[in-house]
Amino acid sequence: MHDFYSDTQTRPTRAMREAALDAPLGDERHDSDPPTLELCARVADMLGMEAALFLPSGTMCNEIAIAVHTRPGDEVICTRESHIIFAESGGPAALSGVMMYPIDGARGMLTPDQLGAAIRPRSAHAPRSRLLVAEQTANLAGGAIWPLDQLNAVAIAAQEAGLATHLDGARLLNAQVASGIPAAEYARGFDSAWIAFTKGLGCPVGAVLAGSHDFIADAWLLKRRWGGAMRQTGVLTAMCLYALDNHVERLSEDHALAQSIGARLTALPAIKTVLPVETNIVIADLADHAPDARATARRLREKNVTVTVVGARRLRIVTHLDVGPDDADVLVSALNVID
Ligand SMILES: Cc1ncc(COP(=O)(O)O)c(C=O)c1O
Repeated sequence: MHDFYSDTQTRPTRAMREAALDAPLGDERHDSDPPTLELCARVADMLGMEAALFLPSGTMCNEIAIAVHTRPGDEVICTRESHIIFAESGGPAALSGVMMYPIDGARGMLTPDQLGAAIRPRSAHAPRSRLLVAEQTANLAGGAIWPLDQLNAVAIAAQEAGLATHLDGARLLNAQVASGIPAAEYARGFDSAWIAFTKGLGCPVGAVLAGSHDFIADAWLLKRRWGGAMRQTGVLTAMCLYALDNHVERLSEDHALAQSIGARLTALPAIKTVLPVETNIVIADLADHAPDARATARRLREKNVTVTVVGARRLRIVTHLDVGPDDADVLVSALNVID
């Protein structure tokens, strides 16, 4: 398979698996698993936060953060294409009882003016504007990187208006590697932020959510309540530590491959446009005469190439540890015969 479906499709490398073999283990639920404690301390430091906790998934990071920051009936402001809207099974409504205020932001990003216009004046009639959620990088906008000034300005504007702020950092390290700006700079102005280990970093399980000591104490309560507290997580977090040491800088290889795929796709008859490629995600719109996205994905699959359908005529192609230039050649050739 030439799997461009998502960077979540990676398999742990042999070296990564070996890192887990001799890891000292304890009980994560009682805060005594050494690799997990080390991982949380490292991620808190990387994000400029006081504390952190290990969770099974990024979805759980987002959902716990939303629940900690809000009360039922509150409103969460984010862009329309946010993962918390399109891919978390209605979690914000089901788990926190909040309303969403989706904004059509250019390339998955808001401006302080758009945020200001969305914040409701305090009133007995309206929901309370309570939380801003931003995604760095913006997944469905093609892995676009929020410029640091804009991200900080939006976070500060939210805080000044009394909102809490949460950063979905599923691909924050892609932004760090592509821009050279440390993750902590992007997380400045956010009350909570997390990074994923199952995407570009290539681990099988895990994400780490960070924030203040008080925030993490509240997050721990929900982690226990929702069944996310675990035991010998060191077998997982040892792999995450390995990934921090060995798989961060190499994200630049994924970015270079995505750039080259994007450039080659623009020349194909089946492709109308390709969004600017900044990290490891390529979003391509099909030409009017080409089959629609579902049919195109089906035809690619017949050639053992997988991509994601993210719109009627829109495909997403993601590069990662387990695809290289040879896979890209197969992808481009397979798309080249579709017109
Ligand atoms: C932007 C974004 N946020 C959150 C998530 C959820 O992460 P997980 O799959 O670990 O639940 C994803 C997953 O792809 C994502 O792309």
